[in-house]
Amino acid sequence: MKKRSNLKDPKSLHDTDKAKKQAGKKRTVEKKLPNGGQSSSGWSRRILKAFLGLCVVYVSVPVILRLFPGLLGHVLYSHIFRVPFLVDLSRPEDLSLNHTVNFYLTSEEGISLGVWHTVPDTQWREAQGKELAWYEESLKDGVPVIIYLHGNGGTRGVSHRVGLMNVLTAAGFHVLSLDYRGFAESTGVPSEAGLTTDALYLYEWVKARSGRSPVCLWGHSLGTGVATNAALKVQEQGRHVDAVVLEAPYTNIREEGANHPFGKIYWMFPGFDYFFLDTMALNNVIFPNDENLKTLNTRLLILHAEDDGIVPFHMSQTLFEIARQAQGSEQRVQMVPFSGSLGYKHNGIYKDARLPKIIWDFLRPLVA
Ligand SMILES: *[C@@H]1O[C@H](CO)[C@@H](O)[C@H](O)[C@H]1NC(C)=O
Repeated sequence: MKKRSNLKDPKSLHDTDKAKKQAGKKRTVEKKLPNGGQSSSGWSRRILKAFLGLCVVYVSVPVILRLFPGLLGHVLYSHIFRVPFLVDLSRPEDLSLNHTVNFYLTSEEGISLGVWHTVPDTQWREAQGKELAWYEESLKDGVPVIIYLHGNGGTRGVSHRVGLMNVLTAAGFHVLSLDYRGFAESTGVPSEAGLTTDALYLYEWVKARSGRSPVCLWGHSLGTGVATNAALKVQEQGRHVDAVVLEAPYTNIREEGANHPFGKIYWMFPGFDYFFLDTMALNNVIFPNDENLKTLNTRLLILHAEDDGIVPFHMSQTLFEIARQAQGSEQRVQMVPFSGSLGYKHNGIYKDARLPKIIWDFLRPLVA
C-alpha cells in the first residue's frame, strides 16, 4: 500500500534528480524492508492472529454456554459421542458377550432405553438362543444383581464398561447395563432428573422380577450421582436399595466441575463460577452425592484409584467420612482405595484381580 502511494505521488515525479535519487534510494530501501519485513512481520501477524483467535474461542465458550445453557448439557453428558462407533449395540454377542440379551424399556412416554442383561458366566451355555423371558426368570436365582450406571460420554459398549461386565459376570453376578436417555440408541435428551428417572425405572423393573436376589446399584463417575439420587428416591418411598457401589465418585457436580481437566483450563477465567458452575446449578444440574449420603441409609462401598485425574481421590475420602458419620457403621460403609502405582486412573479399576473378592465380601451378607 505504502509503496503504491509513493509511486503514485505526483510530487515525486516532478522532483529534482537529487530528490529522485534520494527517492529511488528510499524506494529501494523501502522495497527491501517490506520484503525482509514481510516474512518476519507476516509470521508475527500470523502468530498474533492465531493467538487472538484462541482468545476469542477461550472467551466465547463461557459466554455461549451461559447464553445457551442447553449446550452445557452436551459438554457435561457428552452423549453425542456414541463410541465405540460401528458397534451394533443390539448384538452384544459381537463384543463376545454371548450370554447377554439386549432389550428396550420405556421409562417415560417417548423415552426408550437400551439395556443389556448378562447372566453369570456359569450359565452361558444355557443362555444360548434364549429369549428375554428366560433372562427375566433368571433374575430370581438368588444371585446378586448389579445395575450398572455408566459415566458420561459413549455407550454401554465402551471397552472399560464391557470389561467390568465381564469381570462381574465371571465372578458370578447378574449385570444390567443401561444407556440413559439421549445416550447410544436411547431416545430423549439427558437431564439430571431424566437420568435418575431412567435408573429408577430399571431398578423397579428388576425388583419386580428379582424375588429375593439382592439388587445393587453401581454407579461410575457421573453415574455415581445417578445412583445416589435413585437410591434416595427409593428411600423416600419407604424402602431401601440393598446396596450401592460408587466407583470414582465426586462430591457434587459443582466441585467436580471446578476440578475437572476442562474446568481447570478455565479456573482463572474471571467469573468461572458465574459462567460454568452457576449455569449448571440454574439448570438443575447438581448431582449431590455429598448431600445424598447424609441421609442415605444403604450399604455402601466406595472404590477409587488414587491416580484418578478426572475425579480427584480426595472426593471419595470426603464422601466416606460423610457416609460413616451418617450411618455410624464400619460394616455398612466401606471404602477401598487403589494405589496410584497400579495406574488404574479413572476407568481402570475393573482390571484389579482383587475386585471379585472385594465385591463378594461386600454383597455376600445380603444373599439369603
Ligand atoms: C461365551 O462366554 C463365556 C463367558 O465369557 C466364555 O467362557 C465362553 O468361552 C464363550 N463361548 C463362546 C462359544 O464364545
